[in-house]
Amino acid sequence: MTPNKPETNVDDPARVAAFEARIAAGETIEPKDWMPERYRRQLVRMMSQHAHSEVVGMLPEGNWITRAPTLRRKMSLLAKVQDEAGHGLYIYCGTETLGVDRHELIQQLLNGTAKYSSIFNYPTLSWADIGAIGWLVDGAAIVNQTMLAKASYGPYARAMVRICKEENFHKRQGFEIMATLSAGTPAQKRMAQDALDRWWWPSLMMFGPHDTDSPNSDELLRWGVKRKSNDELRQRFINLTVAQAKAIDLTIPDPQLRFDEASQNWLIGPIDWDEFWRVVRGNGPCNQERLAARRQAHDDGEWVRIAAAAYAAKQARAESTSEAA
Ligand SMILES: [Fe+2]
Ligand SMILES: [Fe+2]
Repeated sequence: MTPNKPETNVDDPARVAAFEARIAAGETIEPKDWMPERYRRQLVRMMSQHAHSEVVGMLPEGNWITRAPTLRRKMSLLAKVQDEAGHGLYIYCGTETLGVDRHELIQQLLNGTAKYSSIFNYPTLSWADIGAIGWLVDGAAIVNQTMLAKASYGPYARAMVRICKEENFHKRQGFEIMATLSAGTPAQKRMAQDALDRWWWPSLMMFGPHDTDSPNSDELLRWGVKRKSNDELRQRFINLTVAQAKAIDLTIPDPQLRFDEASQNWLIGPIDWDEFWRVVRGNGPCNQERLAARRQAHDDGEWVRIAAAAYAAKQARAESTSEAA
């Protein structure tokens, strides 16, 4: 495969027009196909942020594996956290088809220049937070990723198909934790409500700024990388989740929440965008802690990378010797 190298990519208008016609016709763009440099860059940005989010997303939940209340819960949580590592790997691989090196991307994460989803900069204070993350954070991820499974770039879209299946399991295990706690003792129910109170607004922020404040959205929609806008996706998530909260007798922490007959949507009060930008810019409750944990894990894994490289070199030598013989 010849990855799209930037230097071979000259965005002449005729080629861009032909490319946009393919997108408009619903064709999938594959790694060997010509693409505008800007499309390639937008995908690298989006996909690497996504891969980093999967990997950093293991940290808040990994924190609770040793304290899961039963063996069954522990097994489910372990499986979920492992799945997230796999999601990160699929998407890093997908990003490499765009001609970018994974080590470069990981370096950007470790030195703090890459972004990942801000939701993972919030702390997990109680077991109910594991329920709230599965239900709300994975729930929001499903809404977003179901749309991305129809993205115009083939490797990204195909990675999303498998990932969404696993996210459904994540969401269900989270919702089941919340349902169990909500139907439990008064203290358990308070714990579930407290988790919903803390995770509700950050999960709505996961869809990004309002469409009017989202500089990349128009281009991403035009090129079929995204099929729906941030606000459309957020509204879909709200409509789904309000009904689920009612089903398990928990209260959405928004006094202004109301059903609008005309649009058939649940309308919410204002989102605190100051908080959103504060966390995006690195000043959330756990930004420093998350990055420190990733750097530590990277350093601790150094010997594995050295051993893997030595093994690969040994295999290559053995192969070339046997070919020569
Ligand atoms: Fe995931
Ligand atoms: Fe997940």
